[in-house]
Amino acid sequence: MVAQRVDALDLADKKVFCRVDFNVPLEGGKVADDTRIRAALRTIEHILKQGAKLVLGSHLGRPKGKVVDGLRMEPVGARLAELLGPKYQVIVADEVIGDGVRGIVAEMQKTDVVLLQNLRFDPREKSNDETLAKELAALVNVYVNDAFGTAHRAHASTAGMAAHVPERAAGFLLLDELASLGRLVDNVERPFVALLGGAKVSDKVGVLEHLIPKVDAILVGGAMANTFLKAKGVDVGSSKVEEESVATARNVLQQAAKKGVDVLLPVDVVVASGLDVPTGEVCDVLSIPQGMMALDIGPETRTAFGECLAGAQTIFWNGPMGVFEREPFAAGTMQIARAVAEADAFSVIGGGDSVSAVNRSGVAKQIGHISTGGGASLEFVEGKVLPGVAALEVEA
Ligand code: 3PG
Repeated sequence: MVAQRVDALDLADKKVFCRVDFNVPLEGGKVADDTRIRAALRTIEHILKQGAKLVLGSHLGRPKGKVVDGLRMEPVGARLAELLGPKYQVIVADEVIGDGVRGIVAEMQKTDVVLLQNLRFDPREKSNDETLAKELAALVNVYVNDAFGTAHRAHASTAGMAAHVPERAAGFLLLDELASLGRLVDNVERPFVALLGGAKVSDKVGVLEHLIPKVDAILVGGAMANTFLKAKGVDVGSSKVEEESVATARNVLQQAAKKGVDVLLPVDVVVASGLDVPTGEVCDVLSIPQGMMALDIGPETRTAFGECLAGAQTIFWNGPMGVFEREPFAAGTMQIARAVAEADAFSVIGGGDSVSAVNRSGVAKQIGHISTGGGASLEFVEGKVLPGVAALEVEA
């Protein structure tokens, strides 16, 4: 079973629905980071150049099935219009589906791009409701999915509607993500090092358990490292610990030991009494003072992680090493971003925070692949079938 490519279809004079992931951060009513919009442009421009009429759909945030004014698609439509230039007019529909949308799509010109209202304003999107899937499908004759970031969700627009449209295909972004992330799953070049950070062990258990038999080393930083340290009996002071995951972390350590996989935890950390301090203090993980919390990995840990990354052939990184948004706790994540970039390895970064860390450290161009999907890239690396991809597959 394979997904058809968008450039394998004859799109001239057809109506195409393209599911994109325009779930972008907004600030002051404007798009604060347009990476995901730019990432979908290749597919959008291809469809338009083929002479098709294009209807785009995306979710934005988590409005829980209701209209939330701060999550309307208009700012996204405005940014898309700037990126597409004056040749095209972006029409942002007032609703997800209904007579208004059907009227706009019936009347649209080839130079119009219709962007439906936030699909999650309709509760039927998340429940993968068949009526909504059919109503969306009835707008068009071709379904294209380019929303890799949402491909792990089985929603009406990401999965359900594909079966109700005569032709379906994967967009270039989705194809590119699958090809790059695929290098972490099949015929992986070793040593393979996984670098995991961020707050929660519970978000990463699946990927950790899946990676143990495949990797040579796992480096753990960020707040999730505190949970691992606690599982090893270390007193982490007032550091954030996910108590309910301590046993899971212990189990991961045992599994890794059985397979001979090195799990590197911080040996030193940058601590402070809170986030609003001008500087932090470096201390050994075995002597974190009471009342202090670990907010970044320390210099010795950065060196040890850096040495391990320097010897890797393949690197997967998800999650920052500390509270890098705050200057006193940014150095660990920044140094690790540079180490990943400088390694002579195929590197893949997924997850919004690690991607913004890489952008901030100015090394994005040296990274093999920066995924537009956080949860989706983790689930793919875990070996799960992504519903958005499965819905596109046709007999080879
Ligand atoms: C993301 O930002 O990871 C995707 O857009 C999916 O969003 P979701 O986690 O709200 O489904």
